[in-house]
Amino acid sequence: MGGSNRPGPVIKLAAVIYSEKPAQVSQVAALQHESPEPGNGASPFELANESAYLHWRAEKLRLRASLPATRVFELGDGLLDTGVRADLAEQLDAFGFFVWQSSAELSETGLLNFNQQFGLHRIDANIGAGEHAVTCLQVVAADDKRSRYIPYSNRGLNWHTDGYYNAPQQRIRAFCLYCVNPAAEGGDSFLFDQELLYILLRDQNPELIAALMAADALSIPANEAQGEVIREVEQGPVFSAGLTGKRLHMRYSTRPKNIIWKQQPELLQALELIKQILNEHEGRVELKLQRKQGVLTNNVLHGRTAFSDGEIPRLMYRARYYDEIDFSALAHTGAVS
Ligand SMILES: [Fe+2]
Repeated sequence: MGGSNRPGPVIKLAAVIYSEKPAQVSQVAALQHESPEPGNGASPFELANESAYLHWRAEKLRLRASLPATRVFELGDGLLDTGVRADLAEQLDAFGFFVWQSSAELSETGLLNFNQQFGLHRIDANIGAGEHAVTCLQVVAADDKRSRYIPYSNRGLNWHTDGYYNAPQQRIRAFCLYCVNPAAEGGDSFLFDQELLYILLRDQNPELIAALMAADALSIPANEAQGEVIREVEQGPVFSAGLTGKRLHMRYSTRPKNIIWKQQPELLQALELIKQILNEHEGRVELKLQRKQGVLTNNVLHGRTAFSDGEIPRLMYRARYYDEIDFSALAHTGAVS
């Protein structure tokens, strides 16, 4: 770290960040009216595709202005019908996540079956995951090998996306959190859709996006414990255009430890702006998942507040996937054995 390139002055946000208040809807509608049609399925996230970007941007802002971010969808045991699926798809397009409540408490395999309805099959079996590759997020004893990781403590977690340290073939495109038991106090989630962040940055200066999409923007040193290499050095972009070009993937963490940013002025300026947006912008969503509630997301930026346990400790199931959420996958659903 260090080097002679320092971040430039912090950019004032007031002039560049649109409001999501209803009074601004007419501006969004006007912008949508002016937007050209998307061309040939081009990814809106590639800087060269200005018309695809403008079209996608207008639709995203229109949806965000018309839907409540924290609507809880009450879903039964069976497969989802077409109408519910369409509502969930809109919610996901607008915010990068949706919140649901199951009618009965889901087991680990029940949760995997639920997620399969959205095309989520390739699950990431990370170090702390159990038999079904579902991770039980709870406070573990000090002699448990997972105790060195913050998710297994009651401490807060600052802004990050899951698996930002993973290799390219193991990018976490989606994950779900499901609440078996909430904390007695705290343990709230906070979320920020990286696609909204992308809009805010690209509107400010497309060069910030170019810096964030550079293949060497973010490096993670190797993870070693007791002389054993658990993970090799990992280098990659912050923003990339996902598997299909339709969903924006982001690698990011505010943790200063074990993370190396390329010392380039535009990137450092973008990072300052990101911090400012995450702290100040009204696109931040706060959630306290209750028992039987879950959030399914395109790995949006997120974190959690510190918590304290009551008589029944906080327990969240987490499943992470290499697949993107895909609403056309419902017909191909199979059971998890
Ligand atoms: Fe996370």
